[in-house]
Amino acid sequence: MKVLVTAATGYLGRAVAQRLQSAGHHVSAMARSEASLRAVTAAGFQPVRGDLTDPLSVRAAVAEVDAVIETAAADNESATEILLEAVTGTAKRYVRTSGTSVFTELSGGESSDTVHAEDPAFEPIPPVQHRFNLDRRVVAAAATGTHTVVLRPGMIYGGGGSEQLPVLLRAAMRDRVSRYMGSGLNRYPNVFLDDVAQAYVLAVESAPAGGEYNIAADEATMREIAEGIAQVLGLEPAVSATMEEMSEAIGLLYALGLSSNARVDASKIRAELGWTPQGPSLLDDLVHGSYQKVWGHREVSLQTGDVPR
Ligand SMILES: NC(=O)c1ccc[n+]([C@@H]2O[C@H](COP(=O)([O-])OP(=O)(O)OC[C@H]3O[C@@H](n4cnc5c(N)ncnc54)[C@H](OP(=O)(O)O)[C@@H]3O)[C@@H](O)[C@H]2O)c1
Repeated sequence: MKVLVTAATGYLGRAVAQRLQSAGHHVSAMARSEASLRAVTAAGFQPVRGDLTDPLSVRAAVAEVDAVIETAAADNESATEILLEAVTGTAKRYVRTSGTSVFTELSGGESSDTVHAEDPAFEPIPPVQHRFNLDRRVVAAAATGTHTVVLRPGMIYGGGGSEQLPVLLRAAMRDRVSRYMGSGLNRYPNVFLDDVAQAYVLAVESAPAGGEYNIAADEATMREIAEGIAQVLGLEPAVSATMEEMSEAIGLLYALGLSSNARVDASKIRAELGWTPQGPSLLDDLVHGSYQKVWGHREVSLQTGDVPR
């Protein structure tokens, strides 16, 4: 299959593109800058100059492929509309990246027993309503014959990078203290980078039109993660923080997100697409694996951004 990946220079997109190529697919990689074009060419993908905010470039790129996998901009409405328009009336597949964050339940670091399956009638809290509405918009296109699929990965980890873990690692490294909010018993689903990439391959190959899937292999409490970070950085045991302290350390949005629950049931992708995650657990990869290797026992220069994403 010829597959366009919209963000093959990104943390998730690069892993998806590599996995697609290993599975025998032809990968074109949309890139919006000279540096990104050079990076995707060096990685062995077919470079396609384009920007998700530019309908002409998206249309031209999508015209050449059988499927497009969007891994750049989960909250970008115009990019979503442009992609939908580009695949409507064709047999092309469009796989959208959303996230389990749509199920965010604010709890100030306390636990919750609520676990969410892929429920179309779910009513998200306002900060993530927009992302969920875009999911619904993409799924709804299947009713008129467009082959759309929505994937919702949990917190992705692996290779010492990603989004949330480096945010917490940087703050702990800077302040010499690792924090969790309240009791830290709030849970977030997680998934290893190679496993999430495999889920994308399975989805583009065989997910039915209108399919939506949570992608998570496990979950961890924020306290466990904070304790792991303290261990990696050789700090004293993690401490409980207030919302104010957490916001000051990592910003309000991350503080809200990382003190919430967003627990999901991800059995559907296992049952329907045969997904079988195999990576190490998040805590294992953090304390003994890639994060220990990249972040442990090392003074990283925060000024030069000498840290992986
Ligand atoms: N990381 C996670 O744990 C996680 C979990 C669930 C969902 N997600 C979602 O997955 C998506 C990707 O996350 P990530 O962690 O891989 O982010 P990332 O490493 O920052 O990658 C973002 C990528 O998007 C590209 N991009 C941004 N705007 C673009 C545009 N207008 N046109 C073309 N390319 C554009 C960037 O290209 P340049 O190289 O040109 O900047 C980059 O390759 C996000 O929507 C995120 O919310 C991530």
